[in-house]
Amino acid sequence: MEQNISPEILDKLTKVCLCKSVTRAKIKQAIKDGANTFEKVQEATGAGTGSCGAKRCREKIEELIRET
Ligand code: FES
Repeated sequence: MEQNISPEILDKLTKVCLCKSVTRAKIKQAIKDGANTFEKVQEATGAGTGSCGAKRCREKIEELIRET
């Protein structure tokens, strides 16, 4: 099934930061707009400001920064 879904749609459906419900699409957009560190993505999207203290999402966000 997953092959039928475009990567863009998958990005919109995938939550990178669960605490703040921030999608991968939103994070990628912030990176494209110039957020090149975890702290800048955090500032731009609110991701990483939830109750887990970014324990569950920091690594994924940093990976996206490296990939984008
Ligand atoms: S999952 Fe991002 S702050 Fe908790």
